[in-house]
Amino acid sequence: MADQAFVTLTTNDAYAKGALVLGCSLKQQGTTRKLVVLSTPQVSDAMRKALETVFDEVLTVDVLDSGDSAHLTLMKRPELGVTLTKLHCWSLTQYSKCVFMDADTLVLANIDDLFEREELSAAPDPGWPDCFNSGVFVYQPSAETYSQLLQLAAEQGSFDGGDQGLLNTFFSSWATTDIRKHLPFIYNMSSISIYSYLPAFKAFGASAKVVHFLGRVKPWNYTYDPQTKSVKSVSHDTPMTHPELLGLWWGLFTTSIAPLLQTFGLTHGPGSYLSVVALRLAYSLAFSCGFCRKEQVSGAVSHLSLGESPAAPQPFVSSEERKERWEQGQADYLGVDSFDNIQRKLDTYLQ
Ligand code: UDP
Ligand code: GLC
Ligand code: MN
Repeated sequence: MADQAFVTLTTNDAYAKGALVLGCSLKQQGTTRKLVVLSTPQVSDAMRKALETVFDEVLTVDVLDSGDSAHLTLMKRPELGVTLTKLHCWSLTQYSKCVFMDADTLVLANIDDLFEREELSAAPDPGWPDCFNSGVFVYQPSAETYSQLLQLAAEQGSFDGGDQGLLNTFFSSWATTDIRKHLPFIYNMSSISIYSYLPAFKAFGASAKVVHFLGRVKPWNYTYDPQTKSVKSVSHDTPMTHPELLGLWWGLFTTSIAPLLQTFGLTHGPGSYLSVVALRLAYSLAFSCGFCRKEQVSGAVSHLSLGESPAAPQPFVSSEERKERWEQGQADYLGVDSFDNIQRKLDTYLQ
């Protein structure tokens, strides 16, 4: 069993929070397999140290990006080109079999039985069930498969611009050849099934073993009040369709991950209730001091990386308009008005 592992991926500190919760949930469910996280150099050193406390191996890999904006735009997910980085999981040949899991998945029951399945086993994608969803899959590391996948990516590209399109092209017999390679949906229950098929969710949702927070807005993009144990949406365009599932993620984050992040000097950003309160204060201060003049803000924002934001490009909004929106309680907490941005701006002035 030492040669079998659960593997996940993070290319930044925001997805790393998801990876930490996932790793913690696997441990909580008593897995006997190793835990491996693939990370890229963009992950901060402090976050890497936090990952090392949960995962057996924290490996650094290069970013593989499809750069295929045309297909990614069709999916309305311009940020997913980097998911080709997932392909590195086939190069983990120190393991004989692995289960890959997206960093936005949460394990609710022991799933070690997945190691009885063969490559490539996965659950259907809720959007196109003749394709498998690449958020959870059983595979066999192999240098040869790895190089064939890279070759396919270079020659043909991926039909969705991300890993899922490429993997479905490569393992194209999945839909028809062997039903044992179809994982039950409860091993990768995407949260969007709540509104796409509510009666089924009501009938079978309680037996879910893995929840997948598929979609642009991730659990760490919400806020959480630990006192009332309630999850809140931070802006009007992030409706909350599955508060109970988000509550499970946040419960684990609050009890096990937030204290760990604090140990390594990492705050959990605008995703926490307290940070939003702090952000409100900082923002008022910034405006009242005249810090956020248009040219200063756009200049500051142009070279900041917004690790916390769902990466959809934001339309340009003037400083005046932003101020108005703020006064109406509509600050763009996850984007230009993120706590990190404001804090950095304030720091610049304080220095
Ligand atoms: N991922 C990442 N950084 C990114 C985008 C994605 O590390 O900027 C990784 C992460 O493991 C994530 C997976 O790629 O869970 C697939 O992306 P995502 O879960 O956002 O896609 P979805 O399941 O929502 O289609
Ligand atoms: C999907 C999968 C995700 C994958 C993305 C890009 O929706 O859930 O794992 O990375 O498509 O192909
Ligand atoms: Mn995902």
